Amino acid sequence: MELEHLFSSGKIGNVQIKNRLIRSATWVAKATEDGYVTEDLIKLFKDLAEGGTGLIISGYLAVNALGSATYRMACLYNDSYISGQKKLVKTVHENSDAKIAAQIAHTGNGAFIFGNRNFKPVGPSPMINLVINKPCRELTIEEVRQIIKNFVDTGRRAYECGYDAVQIHGAHGYLLSDFVSPFTNRRNDEFGGSFQNRAKILVDIYNQLRDDVDKNFPILIKLNTMDYLQGGLRLDEAKEIADILIKTGYDAIEPSSGRYDLKFSNRKTYPSVMDKKEKNENYFLQNVKILKPIMKGRPIILQGGIRNPLTIEDFIKQNVADFVALSRPLIYEPNLPNRWKNGDLSPPLCTSCNACLTVAATDTAYCVVKKKLEGNLDPN
Ligand SMILES: Cc1cc2nc3c(=O)[nH]c(=O)nc-3n(C[C@H](O)[C@H](O)[C@H](O)COP(=O)(O)O)c2cc1C
Repeated sequence: MELEHLFSSGKIGNVQIKNRLIRSATWVAKATEDGYVTEDLIKLFKDLAEGGTGLIISGYLAVNALGSATYRMACLYNDSYISGQKKLVKTVHENSDAKIAAQIAHTGNGAFIFGNRNFKPVGPSPMINLVINKPCRELTIEEVRQIIKNFVDTGRRAYECGYDAVQIHGAHGYLLSDFVSPFTNRRNDEFGGSFQNRAKILVDIYNQLRDDVDKNFPILIKLNTMDYLQGGLRLDEAKEIADILIKTGYDAIEPSSGRYDLKFSNRKTYPSVMDKKEKNENYFLQNVKILKPIMKGRPIILQGGIRNPLTIEDFIKQNVADFVALSRPLIYEPNLPNRWKNGDLSPPLCTSCNACLTVAATDTAYCVVKKKLEGNLDPN
């Protein structure tokens, strides 16, 4: 087979994954307004599972009510959410041999950016959220400890729901990445200052969650490695932080970069880069190459503009990355992995236009281009 390495199985911790293709966490705005699982959301996961993805990472799940960015973001911050999430996980397992991970998040300064609720966003230090033009207030140290517990409790719930793994969302300008960045974290307590202190929240979450779940339950992290702010996180410092996280025990790292609130400032400052030029594919490759030497054999996941199956076959073959993750292409084509496996190696139909993100703010995340094309073909 042409894509022999891409379609060979791999492991994260002790979890065997049938191929090297991961669906990167993607919020699709298909939960109820209160964050409960819907049939529509379950169908989306069933389609992904049947489409051949090896590991599906959920969209971010809120670890507490203040850490929810939109009314239709799924939540897992109390036990009432468990039965719906269990059903979703069961659907994936019953209909495929795909694995599924829960991504858990606190949206920090972005809390309810799309909603009208009168919550005051929070962060490691005061700052103005550029999207909602609202100030966020600094968390007290007791609140930081409570949020760590929220992550731990939510991670344990994900384990109870039958998820095969959990991923901590430490990227994109949400709460945890704001702790890691020296630009947004100006605290002078044990959670601020040196990079060791700024990484402490991630270390504490891992250590406490590890005590609460089976030792073989993988705990992954999506980690910002640059935030494109002057005086912000640089790749060399992110490497030191990743080193701490691997020594702590994290089972895999998916490097990312950028901030959701810098989306409109220039094309590079947002993780979903709007660019379909072939030469700009795999735009976090350098980040993966820099981090790879500190991984101590744990998997590193390359994401960001992954589009060419032959190139990524080569990355896996050459051990540049252990897995690759895609988001937008799977919105258009949930069956892309099977398409490639069956020999159609043409690139994804996704044009990286980000219209899926724009519509998600008021509707659900769907591929606008696909819908238009299908509409044109519809004789009615
Ligand atoms: C509609 C949409 C929702 C997303 N939601 C999340 C999310 O919940 N968590 C996350 O870590 N990244 C999220 N992302 C970012 C993607 O996971 C990914 O990092 C980025 O889009 C680059 O990959 P791609 O070029 O394959 O789309 C989202 C992206 C899109 C387009």
